[in-house]
Amino acid sequence: MTPVLDDLATEAGSSCSLENYLALPDHSMDERIARARAALGSTTILLGHHYQRDEVIRFADFTGDSYKLSKAAAETGAQYIVFCGVHFMAESADVLGRAGQQVILPDLNAGCSMADMAEISQVEGCWEVLERMGLADETIPLTYMNSTAAIKAFCGERGGLVCTSSNARAAFEWAFARGRRILFLPDQHLGRNTGYAMGIPLEEMAAWDPWAVQGGQTKDRIAASRILLWKGHCAVHQRFLPSHVDEARTKHPGIQVIVHPECRFEVCQKADALGSTERLIALVEQAPAGTTFAIGTEIHLVNRLARRFAPEGKKIITLDSTGCLCTTMYRISPQHLAWALENLVEGRVVNRIQVRAGIKRWARVALDRMLEV
Ligand code: 13P
Ligand code: SF4
Repeated sequence: MTPVLDDLATEAGSSCSLENYLALPDHSMDERIARARAALGSTTILLGHHYQRDEVIRFADFTGDSYKLSKAAAETGAQYIVFCGVHFMAESADVLGRAGQQVILPDLNAGCSMADMAEISQVEGCWEVLERMGLADETIPLTYMNSTAAIKAFCGERGGLVCTSSNARAAFEWAFARGRRILFLPDQHLGRNTGYAMGIPLEEMAAWDPWAVQGGQTKDRIAASRILLWKGHCAVHQRFLPSHVDEARTKHPGIQVIVHPECRFEVCQKADALGSTERLIALVEQAPAGTTFAIGTEIHLVNRLARRFAPEGKKIITLDSTGCLCTTMYRISPQHLAWALENLVEGRVVNRIQVRAGIKRWARVALDRMLEV
């Protein structure tokens, strides 16, 4: 690749080591990001998840929840996709991208603790147990987007698919049309909340503990289950408690409590509505002026909504007053973004996310099934 803009390339070239950027203040990055962005033009698209900080998301060409961003990645003709999100999102963009496209994650440390809770060797071990019990044939593996590409490939290869929080119900219906039971990875809460909303009682769901022998379950219990819930969770959303909902209602009579379905079952049961990040935004947008909301999701999104809707007289508070921060999303700083973009201007691709061909093939099958659902 040849440099796109000579003077910027020279400036970037003088300080292209990441350490040089990290020593600089946030505000000094704004102009550099804007210039690099302009220099790269339509060769590059910048995708931003709703949990990104303001200093970063303001540069995104496209913002959204996991589903919307995966569609944007699948549809863009840009040569470079700079993903301001976390690792599993960038992996999915690479799987869905066209030949020749390259995906960049500005900080490779931007992972997801929930995705890390299901390792492929553990999932394969679980499946072997199901096979020994004679239950694998009637089980459809379904993974939440928040998982590694290897887990997505595992599901694709065994007749399963991927879902996000915005299409989980449709994906469950797809799976139940093809099997008696779903193995849902890796978020027990999204799995439980979705299954229950579809009328499946809690007694027909069993949690699979990857650290316990045979998942900590008897064969009879697994055989009787309609949903086998991998025992993973999001440390950010698990902090919201039912008592927070009670306190919000006591302090603010009439308040609307809306939460992400990664929250615990007991919290979701007490909430007025659940939804993906995109849906939570839509709920606030559609509410009449003067509505007060307590929102159970990541603090950057909640704070941004509070500022955006204050002029309309909508009051927005976080459900947990200590505020829930996704520390891995926060890893993408303006400095990392400037570093990645200026390197691109100079003709260098840094922090490329590339899924191996064998994994890519089946992960694509699982992701395509989701996009069709
Ligand atoms: P959304 O798909 O709702 O944006 O959720 C992604 C995520 O990681 C929430 O924790
Ligand atoms: Fe992962 Fe939770 Fe962060 Fe979402 S909020 S990216 S599930 S750690």
